[in-house]
Amino acid sequence: MVGRAPIAVALDAPDLETAARWAGLVTPHVSALKIGLELYLRYGPSVVASVRGASEAEIFLDLKLHDIPATVAGAARAVARLRPALLTVHAGAGAAAIRAAAEAIPATRIVAVTVLTSLGEADLARLGMAGPVSSAVRRLAAVAIEAGARGLVCSPQEVEAVRAEVGDGIVLITPGVRPAGTDANDQARVATPEEALRSGADLLVIGRPITAAADPGAAAAAIAASLRRAEAVDSRQ
Ligand code: C5P
Repeated sequence: MVGRAPIAVALDAPDLETAARWAGLVTPHVSALKIGLELYLRYGPSVVASVRGASEAEIFLDLKLHDIPATVAGAARAVARLRPALLTVHAGAGAAAIRAAAEAIPATRIVAVTVLTSLGEADLARLGMAGPVSSAVRRLAAVAIEAGARGLVCSPQEVEAVRAEVGDGIVLITPGVRPAGTDANDQARVATPEEALRSGADLLVIGRPITAAADPGAAAAAIAASLRRAEAVDSRQ
């Protein structure tokens, strides 16, 4: 791994100034900045320019689109001028909606969200999706990839099974990443950054372990360094 670490910092900030400050501090160390619904809906599209600044970090626009194909395509076209590297769409919107997004914004990697990690088996059963969560994840992943998604969000525990389902070339993105010894916060199923990469993740979404640190830049640099060390050890084995 050369250059910036494969980390997308979740900029879940209370205001634009904080988000821009975090972005400036972490950008030298990480490859992407994740803007979620809260920040985007509060400040609108201009939030992207504010966090991007003069940096070359990629923008991960986590808007989790979920609508009919024409509307998803229109929304994707609407954000195309922001040049996001990644844009999320719910796989549950269906193959046609995923395909519409992929065609509407070809320079952006469409990332499908399979099953939200806030949902358990009982929730899925109530929604008419009986069976283990992992089966639903694999089913939705297959539909999304066939329809043109080039990335998937999944938990670190699901990475291996999802990789087996979709093969190489698809970017697997995992939240729920916690360096050893840090607070899990509200994440139930966590893995360390090294574990997540070893199990096959391509991009780690990390928020509070970096943004709630006294020095977010130093926290990002430390995680990036630990990933480089792990990679060096692995390549010697
Ligand atoms: O602070 P933390 O590292 O938990 O932030 C994780 C980020 O990933 C948050 O922006 C959260 O909304 C997002 N996320 C998640 N679990 C998912 C999908 C997204 O935690 N399944």
